[in-house]
Amino acid sequence: FKHQSLCIFVIGASGDLAKKKTYPSLFDLFEHGFLPPHTIICGYARSKKSDDEFRSFISAYLKTKDEEKKSAFLNLCIYRSGAYDSVSDVGAVSKEMETLENATGLCIKNRLFYFAIPPNVFVPIGTSIKHSALSTQGWNRLIVEKPFGHDLNSFNELSRDMGALYSEDEIYRIDHYLGKEMVQNLMLLRFANNTFEPLWNRNYISSVMITFKENIGTQGRGGYFDSYGIIRDVMQNHLLQVLSLVAMEPPVRASGDDYSNFVRDEKVKVLKCIEPLSLENTVLGQYVGNNELNEVGYLEDPTVPADSVTPTFATVVMNVKNARWDGVPFIMKAGKALNDKKVEVRIQFKQAPGATHMFPGVEIPRNELVLRLQPNEAVYMKTNVKSPGLSTKPVASELDLSYNVRYADTYLPEAYTRLVLDVLRGKQATFVRDDELRAAWQIFTPLLNQIESQRLTPIPYVFGTRGPMESDNLVKKFGYEFHSGA
Ligand code: BG6
Repeated sequence: FKHQSLCIFVIGASGDLAKKKTYPSLFDLFEHGFLPPHTIICGYARSKKSDDEFRSFISAYLKTKDEEKKSAFLNLCIYRSGAYDSVSDVGAVSKEMETLENATGLCIKNRLFYFAIPPNVFVPIGTSIKHSALSTQGWNRLIVEKPFGHDLNSFNELSRDMGALYSEDEIYRIDHYLGKEMVQNLMLLRFANNTFEPLWNRNYISSVMITFKENIGTQGRGGYFDSYGIIRDVMQNHLLQVLSLVAMEPPVRASGDDYSNFVRDEKVKVLKCIEPLSLENTVLGQYVGNNELNEVGYLEDPTVPADSVTPTFATVVMNVKNARWDGVPFIMKAGKALNDKKVEVRIQFKQAPGATHMFPGVEIPRNELVLRLQPNEAVYMKTNVKSPGLSTKPVASELDLSYNVRYADTYLPEAYTRLVLDVLRGKQATFVRDDELRAAWQIFTPLLNQIESQRLTPIPYVFGTRGPMESDNLVKKFGYEFHSGA
């Protein structure tokens, strides 16, 4: 990067996403020396603000002990206002940046456009940029964020309109789950360990459960949330991304120029093998208040319509109909306002053949490989061992790789930091390709249509609990054996 200048445009710079995620990740990169020496960061949005007002707006979100670094970073940040659909507003800012770029004396001038805006302005701003702000002497890359449509049709429309403006290799669709340590660990774990790789199929695995639990409600985001619901909010994107990495076939290679597409080809292939989802194997819930915890119910959120039937909890069961997985239930469970805050993947193995015969009268739980994405990243295997000491009875224990113990001093960057760095390096494997998203919407749209056209009433569950009991029953029906912590 040394001989190239970089101009980052943060579109929608005065919004929540920009201040909470975009600027902190750019600062993180700056602090760790990953931004090129000649970088300019230009915030752009509709509201009028001076550079200094803008700097104090983002300053509180830049966490560091190094105040000097922080002020050096803030000095790179400028702010300009204008309309999104105005070629002349955007063009004027671009001209100003060009003067700064020219002053560096470098001939390669790269431009990154970070869209921290709602999708209804993707196309207007994308058009303005296309006509007035693209670099002709370097690369142009766009980062866009979900929601990418509301269903298959609206996604197709967005994809067509953006596709008419930009090519696939210019568009980086963020799913921040792809930037999490444990998600990035999946390929190595699966394909570089002979202890796992040969067992990773229907012959040895009895079920896979991907769980997302939050112990907070919608917290003022009810307006957005109500028109999406938990399935669109986290399942169709984050959890499905995790599922595809757990279930896909090995990519041709995990390095080199075509690597990004090798990985994404496999993800798309496995998504296409998922059988249509059924209402029968779906449980929907909506949280109600809990006086003891002093928490109000979903419907009491003033931004939520009083008769809303939007689910804040869902469990769905999927079948990946291919040679590796057919018949192994992939269970996805996600909910807000539950009893815990964690995200994990549980791969449960079939029982060791003959174990119950050899150890009659004692319970031999199944092995379970747990990947904890958060909090406290860990990989652990529930393993049966002899009770330590004089007893010969089996006892369930764990082979435990907890990152905060084993890698206590290692810097684990935030998901956004890793992903923005990948954009700068032109690595697209950790971004969602257009056809991947289409496949994801193809899986969920028919189920969502059924739920919404019938206005199905979700089962109420109390804030701070495990969610509806019907979910546990469904999971048990699919043969999942509950272990502690699940
Ligand atoms: C977002 C959802 O995409 O992901 C939120 O819109 C959710 O509702 C969040 O809380 C979860 O992300 P993380 O990184 O906190 O697990």
